Amino acid sequence: MRLAIDRSGTRPLYQQVRDALRALIAEGKLEPGRELPASRALAGTLRVNRGTVTAAYDELVAQGLLERHVGRGTFVAQGLDLERLRERERPATAAADRLSWEGLFARDPLRDRDPILAELGKLSARPGVISFAGGYPDASFFPVDEFRRAVNGALRDEGGALLQYTASGCHAAFLEALKHLLLERGLAPAEDEILVTNGSQQGIDLVARLFLAPGESVVVEDPSYHGALASFRAAGARLVPVPVDDEGLEVAALARTLERERPRLIYVMPTCQNPTGVNLSIARRRRLLELAREHAVPIFEDDFKGDLQYDGDPLLPLRAEPDGQDVIYAGTFSKILFPGMRLAWLVAPPPVVARLAALKQSADLASSPLFQAAITRFARGRALERHLLTVRREYRRRRDTLLSALEREMPDGATWSRPKGGFSLLVRLPAPLDAAELLPHAAAKGVVYTPGRVFSLGGAAPALRLSFGSVKSVQIPEGVRRLAAVVREALKSARRARPSQALATTA
Ligand SMILES: Cc1ncc(COP(=O)(O)O)c(C=O)c1O
Repeated sequence: MRLAIDRSGTRPLYQQVRDALRALIAEGKLEPGRELPASRALAGTLRVNRGTVTAAYDELVAQGLLERHVGRGTFVAQGLDLERLRERERPATAAADRLSWEGLFARDPLRDRDPILAELGKLSARPGVISFAGGYPDASFFPVDEFRRAVNGALRDEGGALLQYTASGCHAAFLEALKHLLLERGLAPAEDEILVTNGSQQGIDLVARLFLAPGESVVVEDPSYHGALASFRAAGARLVPVPVDDEGLEVAALARTLERERPRLIYVMPTCQNPTGVNLSIARRRRLLELAREHAVPIFEDDFKGDLQYDGDPLLPLRAEPDGQDVIYAGTFSKILFPGMRLAWLVAPPPVVARLAALKQSADLASSPLFQAAITRFARGRALERHLLTVRREYRRRRDTLLSALEREMPDGATWSRPKGGFSLLVRLPAPLDAAELLPHAAAKGVVYTPGRVFSLGGAAPALRLSFGSVKSVQIPEGVRRLAAVVREALKSARRARPSQALATTA
């Protein structure tokens, strides 16, 4: 199959492949039921990466124009309404005199975005679907009434000042409450070591902008949090992956990496790593700090779940270690309380905070003082402490339910991480299954997850993340039963399609 591709333009290749295929389908040149070339073959013909073709196919599958049948291939969807499709294509051509936006962007933040992320929201919203896709806390645990009283009380006592611009971006009483909270995590920062941010995502973005120039490298765990990968990519950085195992980041591999790379940052989640949920062992924490010091590379610690640890004595952040003073630390209320509040913080040495504060000011001037004041009252009345006791108990129960269900239901060859806290774990499916390809089948059976490839730089095709924070305990076993049935069915088809390979993988 030949498609016209413009390599000189700034338009992403996968979009060009996607649109060319869309046009062929709309024109009836690729008729419903027609098999498309395998992604590898088409990539060879077009002289593009296989990922480019896969991304184009994924979007067309998501749009309902293509269908994937595990073990058989990718086909133009049956029963397409070609008239409607042509109708939808028409305005694009009629608008030839409109601005061509694609050529006007300095950089395209959508270029590296996996289209499957947008698809997950839609699949999760389907009626009857059990979604393990969102790393969300359960909104039914949110102490809404207590928080409403805290907001009202703060407004009553402090009035318009809470609705005004603030010079420092930090509410004085909140700073004290935050310091108190951080003390329980072994941290005692001075005021000039703290920056309040709108979510830790903003903290990650600011750190990326401060430390990473285009082409410079950042070490990331593989797999890692896709939101951080997106910020680092947006800064133009080169991502250098270091694997994660049951004890967290493989520090021996990091040591080898640091021999050949001079990264500007090492981004890690030492506690309840996303997506695996594992903790970095004590010995590895020490070694990581040692390596960072030896090579003079700052560690960027994302402690997004620090207060949601379920087993043994809680681990303290790296920054609380005796030689952790140079660690840049990010924390957030998003997982322990409400993500909608967008309230989080960075702790770092004063020269770093001063520059991050200037960057933040140019991004959004300041964080809302109203929420800072409300949280201060909320924490003062011990509501935060009570809430933490409840959610730790409930999420721990969900984790245990999920682990038992996986043990009971999943076929041989599937493995998974055992999270020490937080609300995610990573499942590895047996070869030759691809978790992204399996997703539409799982959604059709009423279960959704996040394919591992969005967290990974190496593709991680067989991996998938299950987040149990917002799935009720009673639904977890049923969700896993559905997932296991889809996996078993896919394994059967794969073995039927390639008996010799199946024998090789089961041997
Ligand atoms: C590892 C990690 N860091 C940071 C964030 C961003 O959280 P927020 O911006 O809500 O604080 C998330 C969100 O899921 C996350 O998983």
